[in-house]
Amino acid sequence: MTDAFDVTTYQRVVLFTGAGLSAESGVPTYRGAGGIWSSYPWQEVACEAAFERDPAGVIAFHRLRRQAVAACAPNAAHHAIARFLVERPETVVVTQNTDGLLERTGCRDVIELHGSLWLVRCACGERPHPDADSQQQRCEVCGDWLRPAITWFDDAVDVARFEAAAAAIAGCDLFISVGTSGLVYPAASLIEYALSEACTRVEINPEPTTFSEHFDRRISGRAGEVLPGLFASGAVRTS
Ligand code: OAD
Repeated sequence: MTDAFDVTTYQRVVLFTGAGLSAESGVPTYRGAGGIWSSYPWQEVACEAAFERDPAGVIAFHRLRRQAVAACAPNAAHHAIARFLVERPETVVVTQNTDGLLERTGCRDVIELHGSLWLVRCACGERPHPDADSQQQRCEVCGDWLRPAITWFDDAVDVARFEAAAAAIAGCDLFISVGTSGLVYPAASLIEYALSEACTRVEINPEPTTFSEHFDRRISGRAGEVLPGLFASGAVRTS
């Protein structure tokens, strides 16, 4: 069954985004064909144990990722979200992405659940990474390794960010999940939370996910094709 769905009839929207949002920019997703973890097993590049074993190698992997992302531009989906935020500033955007592409379109206050490729931390604290090409590995002040400020596997998610996301979901009337497999916890528990709430729940993804059948509506399509229409005119066909 398909029917029209008009986003403009909702007052408090939460967008929950994953790697599929950036796929049309040329940033690979994590899983599936061409996924990052099939070329670079996360056990070797994206966990604290790997960093302790081989900090220089892990830093080099993240430099490659920064360079790859820097060569990509935000796509139609990022721009549609940025325009929607201008029109509807009460909207909350929660992303699992670390690429910073939403910020590059001017989106502010994005809840980056998994941190950012563009931040590093050391004994001095957290700060912006110098730039995509920087070979710098250690802090010039404390001498510590510059650890990417990303929530790696087995790391705890930042409590304040997680609670801010959960609070936004608790208060929303429309929850839109776009471009995530929903396989990584605790981030995916926010989807479960939305599915337990009274809001309307919509999933946008070209492929079904383990949660698909529980959403109120599903739009099978690519983020860059669906979001501009969804936010511009309101009514789109959903199933
Ligand atoms: P995944 O790689 O697990 O899933 C990407 C999802 O995007 C899949 O469901 C695809 O079907 C969908 N997709 C692909 N192209 C799309 C497009 N053009 N438009 C919309 N959807 C599309 O990525 P995430 O779910 O984001 O963590 O992964 C969650 C976390 O796992 C990531 O934040 C990352 C990873 O380990 C860290 O790096 C800390």
